[in-house]
Amino acid sequence: MKTESRLVQWICWLIVITSFFLTGFIIGWFARPTSTDTSHDAGSRRHLREFLDEMRAENIRDHLRKFTRLPHLAGTEQNLQLAEQIKGEWLAYGLDSVEMVPYDVLLSYPNISQPNYISIVDELGNEMFNTSLSEPVPEGYENVSDIVPPYSAFSAQGQPVGDLVYVNYGRTEDFFQLEREMGINVTGKIVIVRYGNVFRGNKVKNAMLHGARGIIMFSDPADYCAPGVQPYPDGWNLPGGGAQRGNVLNLNGAGDPLTPGYPAKEYTYRYNLEEGVGLPKIPVHPIGYHDAIQLLKNMGGDIPPNNWKGALNVSYRIGPGFTDSFSTQKVRMNIHTNNQVTRIYNVIGRLRGAVEPDRYVILGGHRDAWVFGGIDPVTGAAVVHESVRSAGKLLRKGWRPRRSIVFASWDAEEFGLLGSTEWAEENAKVLQERAVAYINADSAIEGMYTLRIDCTPSLHTLVYDITKQVNLNQQEHIADVLLMQYNSPPPPIWGSSLERYSSYPVYHSVYETFELVERFYDPSFRKLRAVAQVRGGLIFLLADSQLLPLDASQYAGSLTKYAHTIAQLGQKHPDALVKYGVSFDSLFSAVENFTVAARDFHERLTTLDRTDPIQIRMVNDQLMYLERAFVDPLGLPGRPFYRHVIFAPSSHNKYAGESFPGIYDALFDIERTANPKEAWDEVRRQISIAAFTVQAAAMTLTPPA
Ligand SMILES: *[C@@H]1O[C@H](CO)[C@@H](O)[C@H](O)[C@H]1NC(C)=O
Ligand SMILES: *[C@@H]1O[C@H](CO)[C@@H](O)[C@H](O)[C@H]1NC(C)=O
Ligand SMILES: *[C@@H]1O[C@H](CO)[C@@H](O)[C@H](O)[C@H]1NC(C)=O
Ligand SMILES: *[C@@H]1O[C@H](CO)[C@@H](O)[C@H](O)[C@H]1NC(C)=O
Ligand SMILES: *[C@@H]1O[C@H](CO)[C@@H](O)[C@H](O)[C@H]1NC(C)=O
Ligand SMILES: *[C@@H]1O[C@H](CO)[C@@H](O)[C@H](O)[C@H]1NC(C)=O
Ligand SMILES: [Zn+2]
Repeated sequence: MKTESRLVQWICWLIVITSFFLTGFIIGWFARPTSTDTSHDAGSRRHLREFLDEMRAENIRDHLRKFTRLPHLAGTEQNLQLAEQIKGEWLAYGLDSVEMVPYDVLLSYPNISQPNYISIVDELGNEMFNTSLSEPVPEGYENVSDIVPPYSAFSAQGQPVGDLVYVNYGRTEDFFQLEREMGINVTGKIVIVRYGNVFRGNKVKNAMLHGARGIIMFSDPADYCAPGVQPYPDGWNLPGGGAQRGNVLNLNGAGDPLTPGYPAKEYTYRYNLEEGVGLPKIPVHPIGYHDAIQLLKNMGGDIPPNNWKGALNVSYRIGPGFTDSFSTQKVRMNIHTNNQVTRIYNVIGRLRGAVEPDRYVILGGHRDAWVFGGIDPVTGAAVVHESVRSAGKLLRKGWRPRRSIVFASWDAEEFGLLGSTEWAEENAKVLQERAVAYINADSAIEGMYTLRIDCTPSLHTLVYDITKQVNLNQQEHIADVLLMQYNSPPPPIWGSSLERYSSYPVYHSVYETFELVERFYDPSFRKLRAVAQVRGGLIFLLADSQLLPLDASQYAGSLTKYAHTIAQLGQKHPDALVKYGVSFDSLFSAVENFTVAARDFHERLTTLDRTDPIQIRMVNDQLMYLERAFVDPLGLPGRPFYRHVIFAPSSHNKYAGESFPGIYDALFDIERTANPKEAWDEVRRQISIAAFTVQAAAMTLTPPA
């Protein structure tokens, strides 16, 4: 997913992160009129129009259809064949070169002869009830052989038996509430939680931290069935037999669990499985809501607060265990999933720049899917494919971008962003010197109403500029639609438009098919074309504009907001701030200095001699290296591969971003700390690191002495 806005990988090289979805999320800065400084690039603008107009909805439909006929799980023959096909087509479209880049990474598969399931057992150990071994297969044009059953990739093996405890979404705050308010200890128990709100790996980590012996995750209709919508194939809701696959790692950006920090090549030293990064130590398994009813319906214990209740016809009692009449029954997990080092393949296509071939603009998205990948990832892969086709068409007419463009089809994203991270690790030095921007292209759609864009603040102005160039239909520009919706929001969208982290209902199930998109999400394929034009347009202007279309002043504005937000969090403890001498003044001072430096920088650009290539290259280098200035080589506490001081995935939810993550984590739950002096010292240390880093970034924007 997705939404894997879910993308911050290896921040060392990661310059710019974006992801796009059509979903309910509005970005405040859209209200702000802007004019970009690229109007001088008249030729480039004309080519941009040609590049965008060449993209066709029918082609995107065709790419989506042909890439979703077979399952193409990472590490399988089918996914290798798909890689070969993409390579062949990219070459035919006219890229200068296309290569397959293999790595040997740790993947995880169920054992076909010993399937995973969960049972209710009586006192003799007889299995009274078993969860289903697979999802009912959809009827369609898909080839339904080789469908991997729902499983949690990288689950530990085991057959724990125990009493169930229901812990809502399994979030940090849910376990706090369970322990502190409800007084339940899950040590030795099997935890059952509903999917949604946070990344599943965080749920598993929380269950482990609290001593659970296993964890079951289910899709509740409250989170995976929109009211008034039929289950697939009659609608886009999740059927009761459907379940969400997914990895349950806590990699924190390490990539392949056995080769953290280094590319998983043949000669690379590998840790053994016990030392691997982020592997859960307990069995984990996903189920659908038909099976969940059977496990939940006889549970005993207290009735939870209403916000813990889903939409099943059960009481959602928290346990532990079943009611008195069923108290001899327990739950057993039977998990036999295997970890296995497996070869994966990225496809890397290159288009050489005409003026600055040593500057790379990268458009990448994953290819591997849990099953057919109807939305995730193939809506994204189809969009990249159409961008390559359109660029190839312009190349044939003699056009070449100013900078080089790199297209990537990543493998094994579903197993923890492995293909992209290994490639970033292998190419870290080159990317550090030459990469301008990375645009991510996972699922291009996940709802039906609005455009969502996640990106670094320096891209805000460019994104707004591009959306003004893109038509959703004959009349409307995407920017107009967004403005309209900004002024008067659409009717409440199922799942609530503010809740970004419950995915579309059939996410990672066998029901993610081509037909799902064609019948329900985007019958005209115009939304997908619009996303293709936004993503393609971004790489086009990043690659072809004489001055890089990055905006340091937008960064300043965002830093100011983030500084206020984090300071407010600290100010919830006014007494402690005084007692331990904690102040945010240095951070505000640095942000102010950054703001002045950014304003002066952009002011100087207006009088730059555009005919002097050295002058152009100098300011472009300042813009290009600005994002790297926020990297602290020492990394965040306990997370050495997350090194950006301004942004990191939340420690409590990989799907969400946190700003000033070092300070945020230092402040987290600080009122309960056993050693307040030490905890507030850490807050002071993190504030000083943030202030220094922002000040250091500001200095990179000053003119040379
Ligand atoms: C899968 O299960 C079978 C039957 O129990 C067992 O013999 C085999 O070793 C297992 N395969 C793997 C790869 O562990
Ligand atoms: C559950 O599966 C086990 C192993 O296949 C089998 O022995 C048992 O009869 C099944 N129980 C039910 C209720 O289907
Ligand atoms: C489905 O795919 C498998 C291999 O993935 C192949 O052997 C089989 O012939 C295909 N079936 C059809 C109906 O195309
Ligand atoms: C939970 O129970 C275990 C063993 O039964 C015990 O070691 C642990 O301290 C308990 N945890 C809490 C928070 O009470
Ligand atoms: C809910 O479950 C109860 C007890 O199993 C049953 O009597 C009732 O009819 C169910 N309600 C609905 C709406 O299915
Ligand atoms: C901001 O700039 C002022 C003026 O140069 C300087 O005195 C101050 O130390 C700077 N702030 C930080 C955090 O470095
Ligand atoms: Zn994806």
